[in-house]
Amino acid sequence: MNDVILEHESKLIVDYPTVVLEPTTHIYNGHALIESKISIMRDVSTPSSIFRKLVEEVTKLIAFDAFSHLKMESKEIITPICPTIGKRIAGKKQVLVPILRAGLAMEQPMKDIVPQARTGFCGIYRDEETLKPQKYFWKMPKDIENREVFVLDPMLATGGSADFTVSELKKIGCKTIHFMGIIGAPQGIDLMQKKHPDVELFIAHLDKGLNSNGYIVPGLGDAGDRIFGTK
Ligand code: PRP
Ligand code: URA
Repeated sequence: MNDVILEHESKLIVDYPTVVLEPTTHIYNGHALIESKISIMRDVSTPSSIFRKLVEEVTKLIAFDAFSHLKMESKEIITPICPTIGKRIAGKKQVLVPILRAGLAMEQPMKDIVPQARTGFCGIYRDEETLKPQKYFWKMPKDIENREVFVLDPMLATGGSADFTVSELKKIGCKTIHFMGIIGAPQGIDLMQKKHPDVELFIAHLDKGLNSNGYIVPGLGDAGDRIFGTK
């Protein structure tokens, strides 16, 4: 460990009380598959190609739960043995909303599972001084307000980006919104639970807190840079 030069401040300086998780918040700490994959992602020596692949795998693992409530309808099918009644997902097509950039890595694995889903794009970045989200791109499917929405972002740190995105989606009439992430800080989870109690959170791992620069500790570092190899 001694010869690794850490790019980000590693000290947990923002002390935060333990967050009380609401029943609508789903966290998977302790799940062997998720813990082992996230540990490889945390490792500073993991290359970008592997990091991206692991984002995809963990996204699919939490999607298993995030999609469990979807309504189904019956469909007659014939197996090689006999006719039977199968199921298919009913209702309007879902909308995936990756928060650019890092959320893009979660979009394709979700599409693999629900290929019928539409995609909307929310481009925001955190101002490095204020940590407030700055919007630079917004493109949603026309009739998004009548569809179930899944906001995708690997990192829920202060919660500012997720709160901004969900608030904008509500302004245009979206009623059923879920958030899916890889790592959450107590601060971000607390903010989302308080401001958007109607939004279900599916987050692979709850970490300890934030450092002085608003990075999650122990975290993954800058997820966008690690996914796209920009640092
Ligand atoms: C990261 C991350 C989230 C945001 C989380 O994006 O992907 O969108 O920070 O932080 P918050 O909860 O405090 O808002 P970043 O602004 O670094 O942009 P990038 O994905 O383009 O790198
Ligand atoms: N954004 C990231 O990419 N990582 C963090 O730890 C916090 C915000």
